This record gives sequence, structure tokens and C-alpha cells, in this order.
Amino acid sequence: MSFLNLFRKKPLTTILQQGGDGEHSGLNKVLTVKDLTFFGIAAIIGGGTFSAIGNACFSGGPGVILLYVMCAIACGFTAMCYAEFASRVPVSGSAYTYAYVSFGEIFAWIIGWALLMEYSIGNIYIAFSWSGYFTNLLETFNIHLPEWLTINYKSAHAAFIENKAGEGLLAWTNAPEIGGLKIIFDMPAVVINILITYLIYKGTKESKNLSNAMVYVKLVIILLVIIVGAFYIDIENWTPFMPNGFGGVMAGVSAVFFAYIGFDAVSTLAEESKNPQRDLPKGMIYSLVICTVVYIILALVLTGMVSYNLLGVSDPLAEIFALKGVKWMLFIVSIAAVVAMTSVMLVFQMGQPRIWMTMSRDGLMPKKFAEIHPKHKTPGFATIVTGLVVGLPIFFTDENFVLDFTSIGTLFAFVLVCGGVLMLSPQNEAELAERATKGKFRIPYINSKFVFPAIVALTIALLVVYVPNFFTDTLDFSEDKLATNLPMIAFFILTAVMTVLAFVKNLSLIPLLGLVSCCYLLTGMAVSNWKWFGVWLVIGLVIYFCYGFRNSKLNKNRIEATIED
Ligand code: ALA
Repeated sequence: MSFLNLFRKKPLTTILQQGGDGEHSGLNKVLTVKDLTFFGIAAIIGGGTFSAIGNACFSGGPGVILLYVMCAIACGFTAMCYAEFASRVPVSGSAYTYAYVSFGEIFAWIIGWALLMEYSIGNIYIAFSWSGYFTNLLETFNIHLPEWLTINYKSAHAAFIENKAGEGLLAWTNAPEIGGLKIIFDMPAVVINILITYLIYKGTKESKNLSNAMVYVKLVIILLVIIVGAFYIDIENWTPFMPNGFGGVMAGVSAVFFAYIGFDAVSTLAEESKNPQRDLPKGMIYSLVICTVVYIILALVLTGMVSYNLLGVSDPLAEIFALKGVKWMLFIVSIAAVVAMTSVMLVFQMGQPRIWMTMSRDGLMPKKFAEIHPKHKTPGFATIVTGLVVGLPIFFTDENFVLDFTSIGTLFAFVLVCGGVLMLSPQNEAELAERATKGKFRIPYINSKFVFPAIVALTIALLVVYVPNFFTDTLDFSEDKLATNLPMIAFFILTAVMTVLAFVKNLSLIPLLGLVSCCYLLTGMAVSNWKWFGVWLVIGLVIYFCYGFRNSKLNKNRIEATIED
């Protein structure tokens, strides 16, 4: 076993032969730039907008708008990096494939493993949120499901232990038992997962039509929320702007970042796009820009309508209208939420099997994951396994845990994508000219040599002037502060290293800013999230060494080549 094999890179030509030319993939190439943009929006506006935004506003106050801007900036730079890769490597697999080209196999595996958090674990959160709004909707028709069928076991158990009155305690008290085990699970979450899995198994075209229709519905209704909500804004609610300081704003980072996740899912549809190199970048960037505008306006309306401390609920968009007595909007918002979250689930659940399919082609996952259903032309087996990976944890986890887990895993993947672009070899004049004539996307090269150090120096100066305690607080190594300060200290070190590299290597500014801004968002993650993330990575590496490393196609080719010699 050679250590260097961990960093073997997949040649671009092999990747293109596997699917980029459209001849070999076996998937239907039906998606246009409009479909891709719609897919992006379908994946972006969902649980983060309808549920998670509530707690973010509660902890950050109106200042959460800053966090929306910061996440938009980080995601904007990252989207450009995804777009650069999508234009050079137009096959399914998203960031996983990109890492295989630029960093080598071990990083590709790690990224594939982290993407599992984004696509599958993220869908668990959305299934829970979907269930919350769906249950609200049923209530408006006077249909009441028993509590033990609308809450997860973990939350009900926690409510029982804390003796906290409410849905959880009711569920625990009234739940039937089998062999001493209480039957408590979130039935709507389970059912929606089964339905989505079935739909995706049946085929891309059907899913595409449904997804496009759902995007129209959710955009129109969100617009309505903004317009109606605007009449209830009281600008008094915008002060104090940051009631819990900047720390309170940053506490919402998982929730706000989660709301942006999804634009990258577009890149998993490379092999189903008519012209991936031209259309994927456009689809990603258009959808991100549209959603950023929507989010900032929505956050302004939300925090303007009621005091931030009333927003710490799981259905904040319904709550604001309930508080204002606008009953008819409650029904409309619940419908929009259900539709929006269905479309996010649809896109994510389509993305996951396509990443596995690509990993399987590379030998890092068993062959079965790459099988295309002969009639439906979808990766059937991988789709069913995705359904199980999302469906089973619904029985034993809760929404907060999966939210944090998804955000940290996705940010980590984003960091590697931006880093990957920094490591891509520059293209020669002929290649660049060819891309330009075919309308393929290209990240503009801006030399960071002086610009990046200048940005760093300016930021430090602004912090010293406007937040005089920032550095002394962060560099506090006392035992109780060290754990929370450690991520920020690591960030300082990284920024220092990147400043030197920018100067010495003339790095491209956009991917560099993407990398640094995503790392900054990572500093907002709680230490407990880092621990779970570490455990997740270790499990992933064990699987890689037991299976992927030995079965990698690159490994086999090498052996076959040696035998032929
Ligand atoms: N951005 C997606 C959502 O908020 C994940 O549901």
C-alpha cells in the first residue's frame, strides 16, 4: 500500500469519457438553463426559509440580515468556483468529481462523504419541517393526527425528561407500546420521504415538471408574504439592531447558511443537461442571485413585523401572521411551505444517487450504485438506498442536530471546492479561447498578490477601530474561553498562511475569497458540532480504507497496466 496512492488524481480525459460527452452516461439529456435555474431555486428555498430562519432571528435580532449578506457573499464566490469546475468537468458527481481532479482520491472521498451530509442528512431536517407545516395544514381542515405520530422519538423523550408541557409530553404520555417500547415517530416525514423516493425512481422528466411547477408556486407565495408583510412593518422593531451582539448574530450561522444550500445541487445534473458547460454555471449563479434578493427582503420584513424575540418558533412565517391576526395568510403560508420543502427534498434526493453513481463508477462504492434502470433511465438502486438513508434516521434523531450537521458538512465541502479551483492548472490561451467561443463559463482571474493582503489589512484596521475588544477577546486562552475561541484562532492562522500564499503564488482572488469566507462561517459552528463532524470523518475514512482504496478503478488500471507490461 503506497501512501502516495491516496493522492492519485483522476485524469480529466477519463472523466469526460465516462459521461461528459453524453454518450456513455445512459441518462436522459433534457434539462435547459431555465430548468437548471428552477432546480437551483427548488433546492434553495425550503426549510431554511420557512423554519430555521425563526431561531436565527431570535438569537441575532434584525442584525441577522448581516448574516444573510455574509452567507450570500461566501456562497456567491463558491458558486463561481462550482461554475468553473462545472464548465471544465461536466459530469455528475459535483464537488466529489472536482476534488478527484484537483486534490486526489482521498480528498474526493472525504468530499463525497461530506456531501452525504448535505443531501441526505439535510433532507432529514426538511422532512421534519415539512411534517410540521403539513400538520398545521391538516389542522386547518380540522384533521388532527395524534401527537405520537407527528413528533420524533428523541424530542418526545426530551420533553418527558424535562417535564416540558406540550406536544412532546403528550406524545410520550399517549403513545401505544409494543414490548415496553413506545411507538413515537414522525409519520408525515416518513411518508413524504417514501413518496419523493418513488417519484425520483420513476424518472427525471416527471420530477422536472413537478419541480418547475412547485418553484412557481413558492416564488409567487413568498412574494405575497413580502407584499402583505410590508404593510405590517414597524421600523421600531429594527432597533436594537443586534440585541445579543455579533455573537448572537453568528449563533444563527447554521440556520442561515442552510437556507442557501442547494445552488450546488445543480452541478449534480451535469449529465442530464443539454449543454452543461454553458448552462450549469448560469443555472447556479442565477438561482443564487434570485434567492439572495428574496432572503434579504424576507428577513427585513420578518424582523420588521414583530419583535425578534417572538420569532423563536419552528414555523415563523405562519407565526408572524398569526400574531398580526391575518388568518387567511396562515393557510397560504402553510401551503407554500409544504410545496417549497417538497421541491427541496426532490432536488436533494435526486442529487445524492448521482453522486454515489459517480463514486461507484470510480470503484469507491459498490458497482450496484452505478446501475441505471433500463426503463426509467435513473440510478434506481442508489435512489432506493438514498430513501433509506433519509428515512431510517427520521425514527431516532431530531431536527436541530441534523441542521447543524448539514451546515458544517456542506461548508467543509465548499472550502474544498474553492481550494480545488486554486489548485487547478491554469489553462493555456488556446483552451481559454475555445471556452470563450463556445460560451463556456470561466472565472475571471484577478491577481490577489496585493489585493488580498490589502483586504486583510483593511479588515484588521476596521476591527481595531470599531470593535476594540475583538482581538483581546478572541486571543483569550483561559480554560472556559479556549474551546469557543479555538475555531477563530485557527481562522487567523489560515488567513495569515493564505495571505503569504496569495503574495507568493499570485493566487486567483475569487476562489481565495470563497475559501476564506467559507472558513469564516465555519468559525460560527459550535464545538459540539466539530466533535460530531470529526466522528463522521473518521467513520468515512475507515470505510474508504476498507473498501474504496482497494477497489478504486485507478488502482485497478495501475495493476492491469503492470500485468500487461
Ligand atoms: N436551502 C435548503 C432549505 O432551506 C436546504 O431547505
